[in-house]
Amino acid sequence: MNHAKPLADNGTLKERASAMTSIVSYPKRCSLWGDSSFRGNCDGRLFLGLVLKYRPELVADPMMGSGTTRDVIAWLNRTEGTRIQYWGGDLSGGFNLHAHELPGRFNFIWLHPPYWNIIRYSDDPADLSACDDYGHFVERLRVCLKRCYGALTPGGRLAVLVGDVRRRGSYKPIVRDVMNMEGELGRLRSVIIKAQHNCRSDRIAYSRMEDVPIQHEYCVVFQRDR
Ligand SMILES: C[S@@+](CC[C@H](N)C(=O)[O-])C[C@H]1O[C@@H](n2cnc3c(N)ncnc32)[C@H](O)[C@@H]1O
Repeated sequence: MNHAKPLADNGTLKERASAMTSIVSYPKRCSLWGDSSFRGNCDGRLFLGLVLKYRPELVADPMMGSGTTRDVIAWLNRTEGTRIQYWGGDLSGGFNLHAHELPGRFNFIWLHPPYWNIIRYSDDPADLSACDDYGHFVERLRVCLKRCYGALTPGGRLAVLVGDVRRRGSYKPIVRDVMNMEGELGRLRSVIIKAQHNCRSDRIAYSRMEDVPIQHEYCVVFQRDR
């Protein structure tokens, strides 16, 4: 008989999420939210933990991909009786964060941008993943992040989920470049290290790699001053 608790045990999920520390690891993806077949999608538990901690009323995700954050908020509103308002956009649905303002102001904005051009989402020149030059990618990401910062209410928080990338023996520390934007993006409040599981790159024989494989990403949280 299997006595393991189901992953969808709401109480346990919420307790674990709100007890989050600066290191998180979710070996088995929670299937309640988003689409696990969407490349580069994220497990919703880290986002859930931050929402439970900050208790925002107005939440936005301008690169929502398969809609993981949208689903988490709908689930919270349904199971907790919260009334969190949510707005999500994505280039695939016509919202270009590089060029368009967010539709209002928010207490909490989550941004999970492409990992440079590791996964190419489209050939649209506005797509950050279509930018092959790393320096240009960082500059365009900066425009997107500053736009998010501009849409925060005073005291609001911006959480950015980013992963570093290695290309042809050269390490591109995206998280360093994002953290160096402190000041433009408010005050740095938290850096969370998230273990990565079930990536396509896991299928590569690590023993043959010259460098240490990257198996983590970061969630960096900034706060806008009051
Ligand atoms: C890493 S995915 C987000 C995955 C999402 N968190 C999920 O769980 O499904 C990055 C997303 O950024 C979007 N994107 C890329 N450039 C964009 C832009 N200029 N404006 C808005 N969205 C953009 C892509 O279409 C893609 O869906």
